[in-house]
Amino acid sequence: MVDVEKEARLKKKALSFGQQHIFRFWDELNDRQKQQLLNQIETINFDLMVILKEKYLKQSKSSLASSDLEPTDIIPIPTTAQQIARAEQAKLVGEQLLKKGKVGAILVAGGQGTRLGFDGPKGKFLAGPISRKSLFQLHAEKIKAIGQKYQTIIPWFIMTSETNHQETLEFFNDHKHFGLNAADVIFFTQSMIPAIDEQGRFFLDEKHHIFCNPNGHGGTIYALRDNGCLTEMKRRGIEELFYFQVDNVLIKICDPIFLGYHHQAQAEMSSKVVRKTDPEEKVGVIGKINGKLTVIEYSDLPQSAMEARDETGQLKYHSGSIAIHAIRRDFIERLTDRDFSLPYHVAHKAIPYIDEMGNYIEPDSPNGYKFEMFIFDALPYASNSVVMEVARQDEFSPIKDADGKNSPATAEQDLMNYFGRMLQRAGVSVVFDHNNNLSGKLEISSLFALDVAELKQKLPPNFRFDGEMYFAPEQ
Ligand code: UD1
Repeated sequence: MVDVEKEARLKKKALSFGQQHIFRFWDELNDRQKQQLLNQIETINFDLMVILKEKYLKQSKSSLASSDLEPTDIIPIPTTAQQIARAEQAKLVGEQLLKKGKVGAILVAGGQGTRLGFDGPKGKFLAGPISRKSLFQLHAEKIKAIGQKYQTIIPWFIMTSETNHQETLEFFNDHKHFGLNAADVIFFTQSMIPAIDEQGRFFLDEKHHIFCNPNGHGGTIYALRDNGCLTEMKRRGIEELFYFQVDNVLIKICDPIFLGYHHQAQAEMSSKVVRKTDPEEKVGVIGKINGKLTVIEYSDLPQSAMEARDETGQLKYHSGSIAIHAIRRDFIERLTDRDFSLPYHVAHKAIPYIDEMGNYIEPDSPNGYKFEMFIFDALPYASNSVVMEVARQDEFSPIKDADGKNSPATAEQDLMNYFGRMLQRAGVSVVFDHNNNLSGKLEISSLFALDVAELKQKLPPNFRFDGEMYFAPEQ
């Protein structure tokens, strides 16, 4: 039965916000569909949508001037004895945090992965070069291996969205959480937000459903609060969070050096960067605006800043954000216990909808606006931050597109090259071609060896790499 009080209340609300068309097909719906529509409407923040329309559609986008921007200090990849000693010191601090069980991991996996053209949660994508393990499994095994190494439990908080929650959950259940304790894998769901047309009206994408998209990875901080994860973290004694994205096959989860630097500096939120390959590379850039640390998304970076070079000829803004952060739990608590909102970013997109006749239309040009919050917009609010540069070849190879630079093919090769370098450093002879690509196929499970020292220990005596090898743990 449809709740008539709720129906009357929400119809009135929709009318007062000029959104009465969302009830256009009401009389055609069955009771279940009516209830679904009402439930969805109840989750929508109508006031916010008015603000977003006024702020982002009516006002012209304020463009960032190069003069507002300045580069920021970074911790370089250590080369001198002093830098190496500092990194070692930071590592000890990070390792202590891990051993004491003070670190949790946050994976954001609520996105829709439209660019890759993969149907389903991106984490299900099979990325193991030989094992064909999924991204989720590769991440899970790293977390398990780190837990074993430091004799600790790293609770893993995974953010999904309505678009992929159920399928993600089933995948983990079907695979018995990839050997992790189910109680230590905590799923939480981010909010959805409606898209609007030029007039600020919502789109129906079914007769009983309003088109909504996940509210961006900035939604993480609110979702952690609203799903009780912050309380759970506190209960477990978690102080520091290692935040990462689902698509990076080289992710060094809970890197103790990074956690150590961040903790030593009493930073609230810190970031890892790589040196940009070229001015046009599509990564956000870390810099300072009005003295505050921030990530400027590639689409917002003025051309002159993008191309600017320093006196040595290097890119002036070379610190490409790889979306890896260390975040203090109490920083998220501080941001979310008051009326604070991260800014929204607007994107003009083609949004599928049901027309007045009830026909499903998939436009081929943009017809509406989607809104998202970005986690890195919290950086300027952090009382302290460190920015640490890392080697791209060891830590960053995301799967973004079906072909080209950040594709399954490049990720697979980058992983095998990484394993090849591990094997080489463990004393085994391997061959790299003129592109520095490993000759042959190689995969090393994190559960077999997480680092060179462990690999050295476990290698069979007189091991020779004959062109194809998968090092897996004994079952
Ligand atoms: C992102 C960063 C970019 C960075 C690059 C590094 C943004 C806007 N840009 O680009 O600065 O250099 O990664 O790889 O983030 N996600 C959610 N919920 C959402 C939206 C996204 O959980 O509502 C998750 C996705 O599942 C994914 C991650 O966030 O794990 C990144 O999202 P994506 O849209 O792929 O960002 P990029 O454009 O690749």
